[in-house]
Amino acid sequence: MMRLSLQALPGLLAIIQSASSTPLTSVNLYPRQNGSVWPSDVASFVHDQSWPNFTEATTRWSTYKAPTFNQVFIPETEQELSEGLQYMSSNNLSWLAKSGGHGYSETLEVIQNGVLINLENFNYTNVQDDGTIVVGTGVLFGNMVKTVGDSGRELNVGSCPCVGATGAMLGGGLGRLQGKHGLTSDALLKVRMALYNGTIVEASEDVNPDLFWAVRGSGQNYGVVIETTYQTWPASNNGMHYNADMTFAKSDVDRIMEVTNNLTGPGLDPALAFVMFFFQNATTSELEIIVNIVYAGPMEEGQKFTKLFSDFSLTLAESMVAWADLPTKSVLGLLPGACAEGLRYDLYSLISKTLEPQSWVDFTNDLSTFLHDNPLANGSAMMIETFAVEGIQALPDNATAFPHRQTFRNHIEAIGAYTDDSVGDAVDSFFLGWRNKFHTVDGYDQLQIYQNYAHGDEPLSALYGYDEWRHERLTNVKNAYDPHGFFNGYHAVPSDLAKWT
Ligand SMILES: Cc1cc2nc3c(=O)[nH]c(=O)nc-3n(C[C@H](O)[C@H](O)[C@H](O)COP(=O)(O)OP(=O)(O)OC[C@H]3O[C@@H](n4cnc5c(N)ncnc54)[C@H](O)[C@@H]3O)c2cc1C
Ligand SMILES: *[C@@H]1O[C@H](CO)[C@@H](O)[C@H](O)[C@H]1NC(C)=O
Ligand SMILES: *[C@@H]1O[C@H](CO)[C@@H](O)[C@H](O)[C@H]1NC(C)=O
Ligand SMILES: *[C@@H]1O[C@H](CO)[C@@H](O)[C@H](O)[C@H]1NC(C)=O
Ligand SMILES: *[C@@H]1O[C@H](CO)[C@@H](O)[C@H](O)[C@H]1NC(C)=O
Ligand SMILES: *[C@@H]1O[C@H](CO)[C@@H](O)[C@H](O)[C@H]1NC(C)=O
Ligand SMILES: *[C@@H]1O[C@H](CO)[C@@H](O)[C@H](O)[C@H]1NC(C)=O
Ligand SMILES: *[C@@H]1O[C@H](CO)[C@@H](O)[C@H](O)[C@H]1NC(C)=O
Ligand SMILES: *[C@@H]1O[C@H](CO)[C@@H](O)[C@H](O)[C@H]1NC(C)=O
Ligand SMILES: *[C@@H]1O[C@H](CO)[C@@H](O)[C@H](O)[C@H]1NC(C)=O
Repeated sequence: MMRLSLQALPGLLAIIQSASSTPLTSVNLYPRQNGSVWPSDVASFVHDQSWPNFTEATTRWSTYKAPTFNQVFIPETEQELSEGLQYMSSNNLSWLAKSGGHGYSETLEVIQNGVLINLENFNYTNVQDDGTIVVGTGVLFGNMVKTVGDSGRELNVGSCPCVGATGAMLGGGLGRLQGKHGLTSDALLKVRMALYNGTIVEASEDVNPDLFWAVRGSGQNYGVVIETTYQTWPASNNGMHYNADMTFAKSDVDRIMEVTNNLTGPGLDPALAFVMFFFQNATTSELEIIVNIVYAGPMEEGQKFTKLFSDFSLTLAESMVAWADLPTKSVLGLLPGACAEGLRYDLYSLISKTLEPQSWVDFTNDLSTFLHDNPLANGSAMMIETFAVEGIQALPDNATAFPHRQTFRNHIEAIGAYTDDSVGDAVDSFFLGWRNKFHTVDGYDQLQIYQNYAHGDEPLSALYGYDEWRHERLTNVKNAYDPHGFFNGYHAVPSDLAKWT
């Protein structure tokens, strides 16, 4: 395999020309021509809408303000990906790379009648002797954690099995082990990418360090990632994590927030992670709250935290769960349900320093009424993720493009979900209104948004940081690696400093 032999080369060049029989030349952009045809080497990996599997190969999680595609390109090798990109950029086609397909920002809507680059064939996780892992860009978290967990290792990953490991890393990568190991992107050692013109590059601390810096937090902007290499750690508690799921009536929301606030902040135990869900129970039609606690350690340690809630919970279920099974078993096994594809998902999010109890009482009552009044959107929900931050704060603020090392606390995430567009405006104004209300009590002067959770309407500085030096650095990398703006579908870093918002 070319990929493996190149990997083994010591002292890798800063830019590796792909081993094409016809050497790559710099790309001249031509207007889109109807007569132009894909190179014969890759044409058989390209399909149009007449292909029976077109829908399956292009379906994404959300259909809200979604990109649209005329063609799907499913390369099997890096060489094919490179040639396809060279062809597409020469012909000024628009495209979007897909790892897990769970990106939902409304900015993706700028890609219309494009080519979807489906990366499902790059589906491997190789554990190396030194404990590092080499991960293909089509891998989902659910598959990655099985391989890594089986090897007795761990790293910080997202909570849902269906999300693309690479897609999540590009925006930072938050998860339950971030208190111990930092973000998924903080574990990244090396990335291999194809630029718009087909040129293959690598980036690490030593090679293209500017690109490596930018990939970790704004990585959707510069090229198609082919492969990533991560550091991993020995499994916590032999890979067994304490999991507790508690349910509550909505009348207890203020107590839940008081207890949570007492635990969070700088002192949160690095092994501790909370996920809360607010949703309408289909059986009772009442608003219900689930508090999930996962502790990367022994049961007795985790139970200390559960006890603070369990004297007023309606139900409690606790057990030890293998790390690789958390995505399917935690939160009462409901997370895979969040993977359901093809709905309109209209999400708003923000980072909040504390959870102001009275606002949550007001919100919970309002949500309950909203879901009753709008049965077409009664699968909508609210989520809060509260994970420890020691591992994130362990790195200097300027270590990577991720700008929230000092502000990452509670993630409030409103998930509007529906299929019938007649309820769309009501959903949008309800959750947008609450995003803005929660901002008035979030403890921060300026809006702080985790890039992967952004709706797409926020100022870019809320996602990438308000510091001028960050804007300059990101814009410079954008202009160096994506000078024609082919990777502008996802919270595009401006090529012009004046365009920062
Ligand atoms: C149900 C659900 C659960 C989630 N849970 C978490 C979580 O626990 N932690 C967390 O951090 N985030 C989480 N997220 C957010 C998630 O990180 C983002 O939605 C992310 O964009 C998803 O990546 P993907 O590969 O699945 O999506 P995609 O739609 O495939 O990709 C998203 C964006 O990244 C670009 N991209 C993808 N692959 C590549 C590549 N190889 N090279 C270049 N660009 C690429 C795409 O072009 C697109 O612009 C969750 C999202 C959902 C819907
Ligand atoms: C491809 O684009 C990159 C980034 O602009 C550039 O550095 C490189 O020289 C280009 N490759 C070729 C073969 O022109
Ligand atoms: C390439 O396409 C974009 C829109 O997708 C357009 O703005 C631009 O002018 C085109 N460039 C050329 C050279 O045709
Ligand atoms: C290309 O084809 C489309 C329809 O398929 C047509 O609308 C458009 O005018 C054609 N463009 C050129 C330059 O011939
Ligand atoms: C469509 O996908 C199925 C598997 O999902 C496969 O068996 C079938 O061969 C595919 N069809 C085509 C035309 O490739
Ligand atoms: C990816 O590999 C896993 C095994 O690790 C397999 O279960 C899964 O079906 C593969 N996905 C695709 C899209 O081929
Ligand atoms: C929060 O902590 C304070 C100070 O330790 C304590 O007085 C209060 O009872 C705690 N509140 C809850 C709800 O646990
Ligand atoms: C919904 O309520 C019913 C009845 O109280 C209960 O049995 C069920 O577990 C609840 N569902 C969830 C997901 O909590
Ligand atoms: C949503 O409303 C529909 C129609 O009234 C109902 O069938 C369904 O059970 C409701 N779902 C929830 C989660 O309440
Ligand atoms: C961060 O800033 C320090 C101090 O100015 C500097 O030495 C270091 O190189 C910077 N790190 C990065 C990754 O830019």
